[in-house]
Amino acid sequence: MAEDLLSKIVSLAKRRGFVFPGSEIYGGLSGTWDFGPVGTELKNNIKNAWWKMFVQERNDMYGLDSAILMNAKVWKASGHVEGFVDPMVDCRSCKSRFRADHLKEGKYGEVKIIEGKQACPICGKTELTGARKFNMMFKTFIGPMEETASEIYLRPENAQGMFVDFKSVLDTMHPKLPFGIAQAGRAFRNEITPGDFIFRVREFDLMELEYFINPKDWNKLFEAWVLEIAKWLNFLGLDSKKIYYREIPDGERAHYSKRTVDVEYQFPFGKKELCAIAYRTDYDLKQHQEYSGKDLTYFDEKTGNRFIPHVLEPTFGLDRALLAVLTEAYTEKGERVYLRIPAKLAPYKAAVFPLLANKPGLVKLARKIYDDLRKDFMIAWDDRGNIGKRYYAQDEIGTPYCITIDFDSLKKKDVTIRDRDTMKQKRVKIKELKTTIDNILFE
Ligand code: GAP
Repeated sequence: MAEDLLSKIVSLAKRRGFVFPGSEIYGGLSGTWDFGPVGTELKNNIKNAWWKMFVQERNDMYGLDSAILMNAKVWKASGHVEGFVDPMVDCRSCKSRFRADHLKEGKYGEVKIIEGKQACPICGKTELTGARKFNMMFKTFIGPMEETASEIYLRPENAQGMFVDFKSVLDTMHPKLPFGIAQAGRAFRNEITPGDFIFRVREFDLMELEYFINPKDWNKLFEAWVLEIAKWLNFLGLDSKKIYYREIPDGERAHYSKRTVDVEYQFPFGKKELCAIAYRTDYDLKQHQEYSGKDLTYFDEKTGNRFIPHVLEPTFGLDRALLAVLTEAYTEKGERVYLRIPAKLAPYKAAVFPLLANKPGLVKLARKIYDDLRKDFMIAWDDRGNIGKRYYAQDEIGTPYCITIDFDSLKKKDVTIRDRDTMKQKRVKIKELKTTIDNILFE
């Protein structure tokens, strides 16, 4: 049933222009997906709302857009060359490859033990290798020489950009602790087994905050950030009953973390990490100070102390946020399928339809309304088929309002607005359309 929900979402996402398989006409590329015209709007809306909430509306946050390609020493200092590894198991017989922890959990199918050995879930033979460490960073070369000296990595997290530019932000913006640096952008991980649609992919968008603090405040500020995360998830329209806060025990945390809370969401394929918060201590800045030889301390004018700040890191996967929004929004009622996406996030805020496509007077007025509204909102246009079909299509992409221009509109200067969730219709004056749409965005 739940898996069934995932296939319905995947199919709708493809059919309606949210998400397409990556490199599809060449048979695809595993672990990659493309966001179509509708999905790109949704993704941008989530990203922009995140930026607004965590950067624009705060006075202790500074934005950054650092390069994806970084000096290879960054990843040595950060510990990723050594520590960013997953255990991998191969089947000698059928050559399938698995993530060891997922294999044990039965993620690839029923766990079968034959004569004390786990069988390959694909071919059933007991010829699995032992677990070997596999570094998940993608390697490439900078410049024309494909040699070890020119090897660099595609960033697996955005965080290091904020640490490497910490001094530049201090020197240019003169922030006082506590303050944060925020960045949203691409990250790359050579996942052993990508899957569950856009949940585990090899190229994704991360929205990360590095919040620099005095270590004495870490506990209190950690709790405050957990509440900020809850606010964000509420903004996304996610049901708080489907959200779980999981304290990550010693031994399971990333190499840099003293405390981590994973925030899990009830996806169709189970309760899985949506976002997280970690207390990275002064690990990263200390490492970069040592490896770069540059002073990365902060001077506290009040106390006269100079020290390396500690860091709290709330981190959000944009693709997972989008999948959670789609999961939460997907609604079936009788014959109807619609996405109850919060209006602020909806790809299109309204769709404009001329009742009949072959009546120039109607089309002309509808076009004028469409062009006027488009100056302020993303607006869809549809003049194909009958009105019922057009409603159906807009429902499936979560458009809150459909606006139909009919013959009365020409005389009375009003239109029919139909609400996505209630399907109720009302007449609204053309000159009040903008305010009507504005109102749902500020609800
Ligand atoms: N800087 C900390 C960090 O990168 P992480 O838990 O490894 O922490 C952060 O990743 C977030 O990135 C996760 O909470 C998740 O939302 C997202 N994420 C991680 N791996 C992903 C993948 N392969 N595909 C899509 N999103 C992923």
